[in-house]
Amino acid sequence: MTDPWAAALEVAAAAAVTVVIGPSDAGKTSLVARLAGALVGAGEVAVVDADLGQSVVGPPTTIGLARLRAPAADLARAPLAGLEFLGVTSPVPCLRATAAATRRLVERARAAGAVRVLVDTSGLVHGEVGRALKRLKIDAVAPDLLLVLQRANECEAVALHYEAAGLRVLRLPAARARRRSAEARRRYREQALAAYLAAAVPVTLELARVPARPVAGARGLVVGALDDVLVGLEDERGDTVGLGRVCALDVKAATLTVETAVGAGRIAAVTIGRERFRPAA
Ligand SMILES: Nc1ncnc2c1ncn2[C@@H]1O[C@H](COP(=O)(O)OP(=O)(O)O)[C@@H](O)[C@H]1O
Ligand SMILES: [Mg+2]
Repeated sequence: MTDPWAAALEVAAAAAVTVVIGPSDAGKTSLVARLAGALVGAGEVAVVDADLGQSVVGPPTTIGLARLRAPAADLARAPLAGLEFLGVTSPVPCLRATAAATRRLVERARAAGAVRVLVDTSGLVHGEVGRALKRLKIDAVAPDLLLVLQRANECEAVALHYEAAGLRVLRLPAARARRRSAEARRRYREQALAAYLAAAVPVTLELARVPARPVAGARGLVVGALDDVLVGLEDERGDTVGLGRVCALDVKAATLTVETAVGAGRIAAVTIGRERFRPAA
């Protein structure tokens, strides 16, 4: 029997764009990190982290892009080369926007010279919503390889669909790892956001100069005051350059104060997300 890792490396080495799918804790992120390390010797490798909750590249609520020119000890520490803000830690209210944002980062990586692009995804594969999300992402990204980590047959409908359409599909056994509870996953998100915002300082933005608008393509606005709501911060070119957290909205003065590590001078627009985050005291 061939070694699943060797088989995965062989097909990924021949693919420009690879998408990895599978349920939570199947080993998707570990596989992507290992593949990136093994492939980077043959040219720049980009990783697009399309998991909005258990994010490794970029903080939760975003899709992140890392460009690697040498093996990285830890994907989470690779420099961020791109960010797309979705404003939620679950893609359910914004399946299409998540797929479109994933595509933009894949295109950006390719335009910047990445020879191989590896797309990591969330573990949301079950039911109609899971299947719809995977299909929207795969259709948006148009990979030449689909790696399917299987515990049972969670992804079989998606795998068969793309196999029939002519896409190269490789099925691999899921890691026999401990499954994390919903609570452990929530803790991970909070710690990742806290770490990301650790160096944040209050910045007051004049709304006449720096427009603020709700994130596009997601259903459901935040209700009530904006306190603690996570926001995406864009530069002059419209690229998301970081995240912030709302401290105060002063309607009379038309100012919005956010805590962020992004320099005030770089912020040209604010996108208001749909989730609150309050660091533990
Ligand atoms: N091949 C493997 N063998 C054993 N454990 C693994 C393997 N791949 C990943 N793991 C472990 O399984 C857990 C989940 O892995 P991760 O890559 O985060 O999964 P996913 O991204 O699919 O949720 C982690 O604790 C990781 O260390
Ligand atoms: Mg993962």
